[in-house]
Amino acid sequence: MWLHLAVLVGLFYLLRWYRERQVLSHLRDKFVFITGCDSGFGNLLARQLDLRGLRVLAACLTEQGAEQLRNQTSGRLQTVILDVTKTESIAAATEWVKERVGDRGLWGLVNNAGICTPMAPNQWLTKQDFVKILEVNLLGMIDVTLSLLPLVRKARGRVVNVSSVMGRLALFGGGYSISKYGVEAFSDSLRRELCYFGVKVAMIEPGYFLTNMTQDEVFNGSVQASWDHASPEIQELYGDNFLADLMKGKDFLKVPWAGNLSLVTDCMEHALTACHPRSRYSAGWDAKLLYLPMSYLPSFLVDLMMYWCSPLPAKAL
Ligand SMILES: NC(=O)c1ccc[n+]([C@@H]2O[C@H](COP(=O)([O-])OP(=O)(O)OC[C@H]3O[C@@H](n4cnc5c(N)ncnc54)[C@H](OP(=O)(O)O)[C@@H]3O)[C@@H](O)[C@H]2O)c1
Repeated sequence: MWLHLAVLVGLFYLLRWYRERQVLSHLRDKFVFITGCDSGFGNLLARQLDLRGLRVLAACLTEQGAEQLRNQTSGRLQTVILDVTKTESIAAATEWVKERVGDRGLWGLVNNAGICTPMAPNQWLTKQDFVKILEVNLLGMIDVTLSLLPLVRKARGRVVNVSSVMGRLALFGGGYSISKYGVEAFSDSLRRELCYFGVKVAMIEPGYFLTNMTQDEVFNGSVQASWDHASPEIQELYGDNFLADLMKGKDFLKVPWAGNLSLVTDCMEHALTACHPRSRYSAGWDAKLLYLPMSYLPSFLVDLMMYWCSPLPAKAL
């Protein structure tokens, strides 16, 4: 019985491996638009796809980021300035893309731009702190997608949305997890809606990786700023030690493969170039072996684990 099961599982993985390694042809004719290419995953993906011969349309937040990227890539890669929180900026970028892709349409749209701060216990934050993240990570993504979708439909192409394992499991306060849960919901409904038009939608769910957004200074600076703005009542409830422990606690997330960003960009590349892309890609062993399994556990078990691992507020009962 166990042997039969092992053979069946083995066959399933073999078939999946064979199916997934089939790659599309004519990659050099395909246009891919990527948001958030100044740094991190977006920047690496732009360079990786450029090397692979695709026609990369890289959207950067700053002219400095765009110039640096152009200096590192072939003349085929083109850049545009895009702030995903501004509808006028999205409309201008859409016109720019339209001029370039013409009747071929846009093969790939990679919604990668994102921020992760302010991140702190919810009680320390204001509504505006949540809005700030949601505007970039969720509403910005939706705005860009709706604007470019006619071009993607024309090419019967792909939409690749960068979510996070924190879109499957909410372990800390602030708008980040909320925004990524929203990305998951948006992507699921979009995938089901667009299958009738030959468009495929994939989500990338990375674990922890070392990029600009996860730098210690960014996290600690943001936590400190939220603490400074918290009311005296909240500061008394939590105490100074909690703040220090929270900043130190982040080291727990650091994993040996965190510098290998290609674990993430390889998933993005597969979603864009494979004949049979997956709907979800988890990137990083922490995502595969810790966070995703945790997301299937009963809530009371995850609550207990978090209770044991998290710093204790000064006035905890
Ligand atoms: N790093 C991780 O551990 C991790 C894990 C899971 C998911 N993710 C997701 O991966 C994606 C990429 O993040 P990353 O880790 O590569 O961090 P990153 O290096 O900070 O990249 C984020 C990019 O988004 C850009 N951006 C920020 N606000 C923008 C706006 N309003 N409009 C357009 N672009 C904007 C940034 O531009 P500037 O550099 O000019 O600010 C930067 O190029 C994000 O969606 C993030 O949530 C990251």
